[in-house]
Amino acid sequence: MSFTYKDNTIHKKTIKGIKNVVGKIYGKAVNLIKIGSTASPSKPNKICIELTNRCNLNCPFCLVGQQDQKESVAHDSIEREMSGMDMELCKKIITSARDFGLKEVNLTFQGEPLMFKRTNFIKLVKIIKQNGLKAIVYTNGLLLDRDYSRKIIKAGLDECRFSVDGITQDVYALNRVGGKYSQVYQNMKDIVQVAQEEKSAIKLIWQFIAMRNNEHQIDEARLIANKIGIKFEVKTFAASVPELVPKDSKYQRTLKPPPCHDIYRQVMVYWNGDVVPCCYDLEGLEIMGNLNDSSLSEIWNGSKFQIFRERLNNVLQNPEGEPELCKGCLKYDSPSKA
Ligand SMILES: C[S@@+](CC[C@H](N)C(=O)[O-])C[C@H]1O[C@@H](n2cnc3c(N)ncnc32)[C@H](O)[C@@H]1O
Ligand code: SF4
Repeated sequence: MSFTYKDNTIHKKTIKGIKNVVGKIYGKAVNLIKIGSTASPSKPNKICIELTNRCNLNCPFCLVGQQDQKESVAHDSIEREMSGMDMELCKKIITSARDFGLKEVNLTFQGEPLMFKRTNFIKLVKIIKQNGLKAIVYTNGLLLDRDYSRKIIKAGLDECRFSVDGITQDVYALNRVGGKYSQVYQNMKDIVQVAQEEKSAIKLIWQFIAMRNNEHQIDEARLIANKIGIKFEVKTFAASVPELVPKDSKYQRTLKPPPCHDIYRQVMVYWNGDVVPCCYDLEGLEIMGNLNDSSLSEIWNGSKFQIFRERLNNVLQNPEGEPELCKGCLKYDSPSKA
């Protein structure tokens, strides 16, 4: 028996052992193929757009949410400025993504995307669809209501992922500080119903990050999701807070063998147009260019990206060249961790 999770597939011990060996061989083979090839390997599949890096919650495992552990709780002490993207830039990025041949736009990076102005969010979903791309959003789900859900669905959103990490108020509020479980539960129920009424094929997912304080609620959460009619996925925890790593090994994240493949699949753009290569680059350690000034293909094929790829591709042969950003990676193993 095995459960499929977003970042990891967790199997019984023997199968896991075999997988680890296969994974390591695969990683080395990919590395051998990539060595010496710093030219851009085709293009990414998707772009993640940070509409705003502001948020209505203070999740303790998230850089944005961690603001409440600092003196000011005004979401103003993140290193880079807290703000939202200009609509003209949003449109330009979507066109640039289409021209470059991308397939998906995720209107999410740091922050809560549904804090973006509602009418503009709906406009963006429509524009993404008019350009033939898939439109996705990850949200804490608290700012929805039936009317807004209907508008988003009618605009053509393809996938909406709800981050809900607990099924009682006390546990949920440990992880989603400032959130009300009964509210998000109602909002998930409502959007499922609205999707049925609109005969929409939207993919609705309840995403539950497995942590020490909520792992005992996972089975019941799955039952509740089934009852509501929403797909349920467990996401492994990127160990940003060590004490929150789940006890049960089946919920723990196994770091993948290097080199990293993620930088070939997607790119991220901050609200100000800065492009970064990885979702763990929260503070702009590796800015590859700015989409106000350049197209996505120019940035992807630019020298900064090529050098970055080369350093990562060669990480096993040349560990000293490993980018600072990657040393603390919560998804891939790194020579600096050995
Ligand atoms: C930074 S959030 C932004 C979107 C939205 N505010 C939300 O919470 O869904 C993007 C995604 O990363 C997830 N996330 C944040 N910190 C995480 C961690 N340490 N491990 C795993 N997933 C994490 C969130 O649950 C969410 O699915
Ligand atoms: S809701 Fe999302 S962006 Fe906001 S603090 Fe939590 S994880 Fe971070």
